[in-house]
Amino acid sequence: MDIKGKEILVTGGAGFIGSNLVVRLAKENHVYVVDDLQTGSIRNLSSVYSDIDFVKDRVINLKDYCFDPDYIFHIGLYSSSPMYKENPYLVGDLVKDMISVLELARKKNSMVVYASTSSIYNGVKPPHREDVIPYVTDFYTEARYSTERISELYSKLYNINVSAMRFFSVYGYNERSKKKFANLVSQFMWDMHEGKQPVIYGDGEQRRDFVFVDDVVDALINAAMYNSGFNVYNVGTGKNYSLNDLVKKLNEHLKTNIKAKYVENPMAKTYVHETLADTKKAEEKIKFKAKIGLDEGIDKLIKYYGY
Ligand SMILES: NC(=O)c1ccc[n+]([C@@H]2O[C@H](COP(=O)([O-])OP(=O)(O)OC[C@H]3O[C@@H](n4cnc5c(N)ncnc54)[C@H](O)[C@@H]3O)[C@@H](O)[C@H]2O)c1
Repeated sequence: MDIKGKEILVTGGAGFIGSNLVVRLAKENHVYVVDDLQTGSIRNLSSVYSDIDFVKDRVINLKDYCFDPDYIFHIGLYSSSPMYKENPYLVGDLVKDMISVLELARKKNSMVVYASTSSIYNGVKPPHREDVIPYVTDFYTEARYSTERISELYSKLYNINVSAMRFFSVYGYNERSKKKFANLVSQFMWDMHEGKQPVIYGDGEQRRDFVFVDDVVDALINAAMYNSGFNVYNVGTGKNYSLNDLVKKLNEHLKTNIKAKYVENPMAKTYVHETLADTKKAEEKIKFKAKIGLDEGIDKLIKYYGY
């Protein structure tokens, strides 16, 4: 199923996940992208650039434009935990940005689907269900949890339809621009292809629910089509792998024999040890079930990079 003939605003559309979404939507809709290019790149949009309207600006300035979107996909949120630790004021910025999106949605009667995170489950025993009460762990997750609460409030007060999508560990096409913040599947693959050892924090037994970006795009579109009211949805596969498993798989697929380099974890206090999505709610409410397993995802990437 896809969205057709609509006006769509994508914030963060030049980033990794956002650009994959824009490429999918641009064929049959009118898409505006707002991105300040802090971690994204226009190159991610080269295949659709002439079909979309691109604005280089920050989300906080949405009010300065006359957008009238049917759907707002808000993916332009500072994307990595260390950024917030370095500058805790980003927590406030994220909430202000969310309010800019929700105010636009309120005025224009738009539906909102936005990027939350599975890091919210840090320290919670897996599998992770949407209704757990999160622990207080770091600035990044506090910021995201606040956006969920504000969204629920807007939904209650003004009947806005909002889906908060808790992405698990997303990997896939267009990740180069994220550099050191890219997913470990991609970072390890880049390193191992160059004959370098992938660096693992700790013993490598930490586990991640890795989800391929094409599945994430499906989840975002399904939420836009099927959600009503305010809801939080997990976007994962329901299966997880340790980083040691990942290195083993990459060696098999790349036909290499490279050992990981184990180092002390510099982020021990806020580190997430295991993520594993409970996928029931997304399956039932928005008909989303991830289709691409880790082996298939790795193969797709190897083909994409020509390795
Ligand atoms: N990739 C993952 O595994 C993952 C997991 C959980 C959550 N998320 C969340 O999903 C979202 C997208 O992640 P991504 O991996 O595509 O990251 P990304 O850094 O590639 O994409 C974010 C994009 O938003 C833009 N941006 C950020 N803040 C902005 C602002 N205030 N105004 C305008 N543009 C802004 C950046 O320039 C970038 O293009 C992020 O919010 C991230 O926290 C990602």
